[in-house]
Amino acid sequence: MEFRIKRGVFEAQQTSCLVLGVLESKLKTAQLQALDKQTDGALSRSFRSKEFTGAEGEKMLVHVGKGLPWERLLLVGLGKERGLSLTRLRKVSSMASSFLIGKKISSFVTALGQAPVKGSNLVERIQALGEGVLLADYRFDQYLEEEKQKKRTSLSAVGIWLAPGEKRADAEAALAVAEQICAGVCFARDLVNQPGNCKSPEYLARQALQMAEEVGIKATLLERKELEREGFGGVLGVAQGSSRDPYLIVLQYHGGTKDARPIALVGKGVTFDSGGISLKPSDKMDEMKMDMGGAAAVLGAMSAAARMKLPINLVAVVPAVENMPSGTAIRPGDILTSLSGKTIEVLNTDAEGRLILADALTYVGRFNPRVVVDLATLTGACIVALGSHASAVLGNHDGLIRQLLKSGERSGERLWQMPLWDEYSAMVKSDFADLKNVGGRPAGTITAATFLKNFAENYTWAHIDIAGTAWEEKGRPGCPKGGTGFGVRMLVEYLRATT
Ligand code: BES
Ligand code: MN
Ligand code: ZN
Repeated sequence: MEFRIKRGVFEAQQTSCLVLGVLESKLKTAQLQALDKQTDGALSRSFRSKEFTGAEGEKMLVHVGKGLPWERLLLVGLGKERGLSLTRLRKVSSMASSFLIGKKISSFVTALGQAPVKGSNLVERIQALGEGVLLADYRFDQYLEEEKQKKRTSLSAVGIWLAPGEKRADAEAALAVAEQICAGVCFARDLVNQPGNCKSPEYLARQALQMAEEVGIKATLLERKELEREGFGGVLGVAQGSSRDPYLIVLQYHGGTKDARPIALVGKGVTFDSGGISLKPSDKMDEMKMDMGGAAAVLGAMSAAARMKLPINLVAVVPAVENMPSGTAIRPGDILTSLSGKTIEVLNTDAEGRLILADALTYVGRFNPRVVVDLATLTGACIVALGSHASAVLGNHDGLIRQLLKSGERSGERLWQMPLWDEYSAMVKSDFADLKNVGGRPAGTITAATFLKNFAENYTWAHIDIAGTAWEEKGRPGCPKGGTGFGVRMLVEYLRATT
């Protein structure tokens, strides 16, 4: 897919489809009147009959006769002017793109960049528009027969129209950012969608190495031997039920000054979570191939940051394991010694994410990070609390949480804070070890984060639970059923804001 900047009179663009955003009940703009004339009153007739009102996501495709430089016109509703945000613009951009893809139309020219989003500038709008297009064009079809792969149209060329006075350089910069970010999102989605039989911890490690080479960052793998030597008791404990070896993936990006402390990202990389001996019910267990959604987001964000050449230093740590039941698996009641030296009583082998994150959070301290942010599909309780419209954020530093909340709002990947008061600590105290890995039914997301807090004592830290947001159940504008890549856009927004 290629973006092209288009200038000149909008109504004179040569294209298979003109795409225009229309505000609800703002149907008499000069632009619409000009187009109405060109279409012999087709627009005003359908406005009068209420076939098209401009409601959010509403679409009307109009064919035109010979003599016009464009073959079709797509009107797409932007909804009410009040509350029109970059998030809604991105969504409408996806809706229009998906609609045209469905009609096998692979190129168009759009004026959605001029949508009157309050308080926004051209760069922000073009970025949102570009993201909407690119994310709508994503699909995961590598396991479909070639015939079916070919049948689905993908976009080839999308023209971004600029009004007089809007700068080409601004639009080009915004589109480059959209492409870099969406490459990261699509990489993350591909990783999540990959089935568990193919996606071993080793596969995840190799994908990370390949990506690192592509974007020019340093990558290191810690294999079983080193994990044993160092004492990664949590990672090794979870991995011992699987015939597949665990890996610790470490990526380093140096875009800042030599001695600037890095920002660290940590991602849960459970390539399949069966629950282990505390086996999950079989209903929907297939979805547990997404239990490396945190790892995917972190890897996607690293790739985007490197492609964007952000002037900061970054380190990413991903513990990659598979959680399986077997004769060698950990048992409920087992006590593991984590990398930190703290002992953990495993009361439920399905609370495995916090076991591997404990080690990863300890390990990342060696990089003397300025801040640490971890992402994990950690608790079903988070889905109960927030559903799929927000991820939970908790941590030991309110300033960091405020910045993350803001990045979530700006990127459209929303976060919602939950408390991490000391009073919760008693819920993860064990009778036989320093900690236990379950805190009972109440406040499941908070007790999981409370457990992690014990391994993040020496730095500024936030934890983001993406259990409800890493996987899309049905498919929505800009995201088909499957992995969402949630976190990549929010993290990149956060990283750009800290530079
Ligand atoms: N990976 C799951 C959490 C999860 C559930 C993510 C559903 C996405 C969708 C995690 O490892 C888990 O099993 N958590 C348990 C913890 C419990 C045993 C304390 C849970 O939430 O039930
Ligand atoms: Mn689990
Ligand atoms: Zn899990």
